[in-house]
Amino acid sequence: MKKPSVLVSGGAGYIGSHTAVELIAAGYDVVIVDNLSNSDIAAVEGVRRITGAEIPFVEVDCCDRTALRRVFETYDFDSVIHFAASKAVGESVQKPLEYYTNNLTSFMNIIALMREFGRHNIVFSSSCTVYGEPDKQPVTEQTPRKPATSPYGNTKQMCEDILRDSIAAYEGLKGIALRYFNPIGAHPSAQIGELPRGVPQNLVPYITQTAAGVRECLSVFGDDYPTADGSCIRDYIDVTDLARAHVAAIGRMAGDKNKERYEIFNVGTGRGVSVLELVTRFEQVNGVKVNHKIAPRREGDIIAIWADPTLANEELGWQATRTLDETLASAWAWEKHLRDME
Ligand code: NAD
Ligand code: UD1
Repeated sequence: MKKPSVLVSGGAGYIGSHTAVELIAAGYDVVIVDNLSNSDIAAVEGVRRITGAEIPFVEVDCCDRTALRRVFETYDFDSVIHFAASKAVGESVQKPLEYYTNNLTSFMNIIALMREFGRHNIVFSSSCTVYGEPDKQPVTEQTPRKPATSPYGNTKQMCEDILRDSIAAYEGLKGIALRYFNPIGAHPSAQIGELPRGVPQNLVPYITQTAAGVRECLSVFGDDYPTADGSCIRDYIDVTDLARAHVAAIGRMAGDKNKERYEIFNVGTGRGVSVLELVTRFEQVNGVKVNHKIAPRREGDIIAIWADPTLANEELGWQATRTLDETLASAWAWEKHLRDME
């Protein structure tokens, strides 16, 4: 019998590569498309090594509808997971048109081709950034969205709306938007992980590079916030746990459990951790030192956010399973793997 198959756009990237591994483990075939604008083909090779599966990879820009149409003509997938997007918040402020063009065009092309080829189910990578600075913690899916503070955040809100409106208009189309909290860590095999280009903007890659001596000192952005230790609070979710949420979402759409054709789920642990706590935990778990200093607040940062993941727990049957310690150990193992490769 033919296995169900999933098109993974942006599958050479950080979350997409981990999701491809979990999809294959769950019995799916996977086709990866990526333009490698923020990734390396080595990630696809890593997925092939971990799974032993033959995974078709097509280097294609999802903004090129003609090229993407050939992928739809060639491969017989049932569902799509759309990761392909530009994701650097600061850069999006400098280059708004590039961000709107890439994130919106690629997404609209995917939906248009799904209609054209009668492929019905899509998972979209959204973000907790759509909540802005929430008035109440933890945030549920009912927590109101706040006006976006960056073009990147705006593209996530706009894509959620495009998906909602398309599903309302086009019969048969079903979609799930997963609002990720802060994904960190790497696959336990250390064959795939996050590959930041240049100076990392996100906390954990900056921590691992500092511990490895690539960076001199981590700046902790602010210790005067109204939190217990003064630093910001986030909900750090293991990337392999996050990957499994996609498998659950795909399974849900193929089954008949979801009554609504468009659904939104928070994907987080439900646990808020401060920047200083995370640094200390990383040092303890891995037995390494992370030089750090307190620096001024970073513009645009929100003070605190963590998820209420009850809906995903109950409806998707999904749960975060990895402990923060396991995840921080995996992040360090991946950094050491990268250093060994040099
Ligand atoms: P990533 O940059 O590692 O992966 C994105 C992949 O998409 C890259 O491989 C890139 O080359 C590819 N890509 C970009 N534009 C493309 C295009 N036009 N055509 C084909 N491929 C294209 O990022 P990630 O962290 O894996 O993020 C995946 C998705 O999850 C993104 O949509 C991102 O916005 C979203 N997200 C990420 C986070 C996070 O903290 N990492 C949080 C919330 C949401
Ligand atoms: C940001 C985006 C989010 C996006 C995610 C992934 C905002 C408001 N949110 O999340 O939309 O999905 O990146 O790209 O921009 N920190 C330091 N020192 C550092 C780096 C970070 O102290 O060198 C702190 C930050 O101030 C923050 C926490 O660590 O409190 C996490 O930061 P980061 O990893 O960049 O993620 P977010 O800002 O939460």
